[in-house]
Amino acid sequence: MAKIVILTGAGISVESGIRTFRASDGLWEDHRIEDVATPEGFESDPDLVHQFYNARRAAARAAQPNAAHSALAALEADSTHEVLIITQNVDDLHERAGSTRVVHMHGSLFGALCHACGHRWPAPQTMARTDACPECGAQASRPDIVWFGEMPYRMEEIVRGLEAADLFVSIGTSGNVYPAAGFVQEARAAGIETLELNLEPSAGTRMFTEARHGPATKIVPEWVAQISG
Ligand code: APR
Repeated sequence: MAKIVILTGAGISVESGIRTFRASDGLWEDHRIEDVATPEGFESDPDLVHQFYNARRAAARAAQPNAAHSALAALEADSTHEVLIITQNVDDLHERAGSTRVVHMHGSLFGALCHACGHRWPAPQTMARTDACPECGAQASRPDIVWFGEMPYRMEEIVRGLEAADLFVSIGTSGNVYPAAGFVQEARAAGIETLELNLEPSAGTRMFTEARHGPATKIVPEWVAQISG
């Protein structure tokens, strides 16, 4: 059974209505990373951070999986491929499309984390500074999102998956943020075929064995149909 490791980024959720980060209308155009995506930003203004993620959580809840998410779920369901999705995204569209093997290396909008004791619980629709941790009672709850300067989640599992893969596919990511942007180099070093499916060439396009460019809802189902045929 062919083992396929698929890295996804914000580009796979664009056609579901969820904003990317670095496009002209991206999230980092109207928010400063240091204000809303760092532990220091949370320490200095937790209300601003909760406001930012409450809006993103509402947008993610209102969104529906698109044909690219569904194609990857169908690929996992067919018995000829073993699929592992490593997503940088914090929405739940892969799961709602039916994918079951999904690693959220940057966390999830639907998780809450206590900044004081590390306890985790399902996030309410809107979070606030005054929310008390169910475990320790501290008013230090934050979205369970990996911020800049923090370690991505489940890296050992990710590296093991990459090393065992027959094919590495990168979908909808600009290749700007490490360690995810370095996965293609690790795959190449292990002699693994690599494929980029993105709207346009990413920062790492030339590292890939093959690159196809176009909207994810077009090129991802086409690729899945081709390898499932
Ligand atoms: N189909 C396919 N790809 C698309 C589409 C589309 N319809 N629309 C945009 N893209 C591509 C863009 O060409 C770009 O390469 O999606 C990518 C989005 O890039 P970014 O906005 O940088 O998002 P991403 O790569 O996921 O960011 C990585 O950066 O800020 C951090 O933690 C955040 O997880 C995020 C990480």
